Amino acid sequence: MESFSADWLSLRESADHAARAHALADGLAGHLARRRDPALRAVDLAAGTGSNVRYLLSRLPAIAHWTLVDHDAALLAQAWRTLTPLVLPTGRAFDVRQGDLNDVGSLPLDGCALVTASALLDLVSADWLRVFAGTCRTAGTDVLCALSYCGRIECEPAHPYDARVRELVNAHQRTDKGFGPALGPDAADVAAATFRAEGYDVSTATSDWVLDASLKELQRQLVQGWAGAAREIAQDEHRDIDAWLAQRRAWIDAGVSVGRVGHVDLLALV
Ligand SMILES: C[S@@+](CC[C@H](N)C(=O)[O-])C[C@H]1O[C@@H](n2cnc3c(N)ncnc32)[C@H](O)[C@@H]1O
Repeated sequence: MESFSADWLSLRESADHAARAHALADGLAGHLARRRDPALRAVDLAAGTGSNVRYLLSRLPAIAHWTLVDHDAALLAQAWRTLTPLVLPTGRAFDVRQGDLNDVGSLPLDGCALVTASALLDLVSADWLRVFAGTCRTAGTDVLCALSYCGRIECEPAHPYDARVRELVNAHQRTDKGFGPALGPDAADVAAATFRAEGYDVSTATSDWVLDASLKELQRQLVQGWAGAAREIAQDEHRDIDAWLAQRRAWIDAGVSVGRVGHVDLLALV
């Protein structure tokens, strides 16, 4: 089972928020406002420390109550601490629930208008996604799933081993992250097809991380993580991977490293 540190989630939050396909969130806001219901509820799955709710809170004023679900109690405790001063002054409410998303049937979707998630879909399997989409359709909820990694990693300056590392990272992304074989880079495409098969009106838009010299620490941790994933898949290539990592670190430290990491946001309207 994958675990994610609060430090890592905090480090990526500003890049996540800047990357978001704001037009999809704005379209969803208009759609929810047209329901003219003062008591709309939303559930944020795999909420972590609440980054997705922090992004959506002001953009979706029609949501009166947010429920954050995650299996990690420590991350939820941090979400509670950081969201309380943001949510309460708005007159809206939220709660946190510890739970395993593998038990899709137990998700609190009854009477819920919207299901959201960020950085989740690339972790799940096609089977999980089918059950999830069917459950959302039965509950009649709209769905916004942001920041699914789509397999694109572009780094400058270029290194001869970039393409091989990307290939190994993408292979690692397809290993089991606790939900069966992960969709990894295919997540957004498979999710779009799966929600369309359930009768949803689906829109997607890119939400790439743009990495510049102001995001040195995020870049450092990313290349470290990519090297670790690559070594796990190709243990006999560790010398080449280590050399690649050393060069990438040197470019980051020198402030000359820039890049993009491909993500996709998906909005599915009932
Ligand atoms: C990449 S993090 C994203 C967190 C948050 N949505 C964000 O954007 O910062 C993935 C989250 O999924 C949660 N998670 C992973 N597997 C889970 C499971 N089986 N049940 C519930 N939560 C899970 C992790 O605890 C983590 O908070």
